Amino acid sequence: MNVLDKFKLDGKVALITGSTRGLGKASAIALAQAGANVVITGTKLKDAQTVASEIADSTGRKTLGLQCDVSKSEQVNAMMDEIIETFGKLDIAFNNAGIATVANAEDIPEEDYDNLMAVNLKGVFLCTQAAGRIMLRQGSGSIINMASMSSHIVNVPQNIAHYAASKAGVLQLTKAIAAEWAPRGVRVNAISPGYHNTEMVAGFKELQEQWWVPRIPMGRMAQPVEIGPAIVFLASDASSYMTGGELVTDGGYSLW
Ligand SMILES: NC(=O)c1ccc[n+]([C@@H]2O[C@H](COP(=O)([O-])OP(=O)(O)OC[C@H]3O[C@@H](n4cnc5c(N)ncnc54)[C@H](O)[C@@H]3O)[C@@H](O)[C@H]2O)c1
Repeated sequence: MNVLDKFKLDGKVALITGSTRGLGKASAIALAQAGANVVITGTKLKDAQTVASEIADSTGRKTLGLQCDVSKSEQVNAMMDEIIETFGKLDIAFNNAGIATVANAEDIPEEDYDNLMAVNLKGVFLCTQAAGRIMLRQGSGSIINMASMSSHIVNVPQNIAHYAASKAGVLQLTKAIAAEWAPRGVRVNAISPGYHNTEMVAGFKELQEQWWVPRIPMGRMAQPVEIGPAIVFLASDASSYMTGGELVTDGGYSLW
C-alpha cells in the first residue's frame, strides 16, 4: 500500500461541529476532499445547509447540514440520531465548535464564564460522549477535539483566563477518554492551533500587528485552509497508532 492511501477517507462519515465558517468549515472541505461524506453543523440550520450544499457541489460527496448547539445534550443526541438515520454510521468526529470572549479575570461575569465553559468544554465532552457511544458499538472511530495553544501559553495582551482554562480542560479530557477507549478501537486526539485568520479574531487587527505576529517565530498568522491537512491526518489511518495525543500547529508561537 502506498503511504498516501493511509490518508484516504473514501466511504467514511465525518461530523464537524461549528463548521458553518472558520476552521470548522476549512476542515470539513479538507475531509470531503479526502473522500469523506461530511455533516456540517452550526447554531443556525440555514447556514449549515448552505455550507453543506456548497461542499457537496465542489467535492461530489454526500453532505448533511444540521442545527446543533453543542452545549445542549438533547440537541447533540438529536444530531447523532439524524446522522445514524442518514448514513448508518459515524467514523470521524471533529469537535471544533468554540467561542471566545475577552475580559480581565476580576471582571469576567459568572454568566459569561458559564456560557464559555458550556460551549468550549462541556460541548466537547457531550459530543465526544455521544460520538463515542456510536463508535464503541462499531468498534472503530476517530475523535478530534479542538484545543488551542492557549492550553499551554498565556496569550498577550488580551486577557482570556476562562478561554485558556476551557482549552486546557479539553486537552486533559482528551487524554483521559483516549486511555479509556483505546482498547475498544476508538482513538481520541486533540489539535492545538495558534492564531488563524478567522472571524473569531477579525476584530483584533491592531493586536495582530502589534502583539501577535511579532511573537510568532514564523512571522505570520495562519490561513484557515492550513488546518485541513492536520485534521485529515488525525481523522485517517495515517495516525493509526496515535491516541491521547496533541498536534500543535501554531507557527512556533509556544516555543518562545
Ligand atoms: N481562530 C483562531 O486563531 C483559533 C486558534 C486556536 C483555536 N481556535 C478554536 O477553533 C475553533 C473554531 O474557531 P474559529 O476561529 O473558526 O471561530 P469562528 O467564530 O469563525 O467559528 C466558530 C464556529 O463555531 C460555531 N459555534 C459557536 N457556538 C456554538 C455552539 N454553542 N454550538 C455549535 N456551534 C457553535 C459558530 O457558529 C461557528 O461556525 C474554536 O473552538 C476556537 O476556540 C481558534
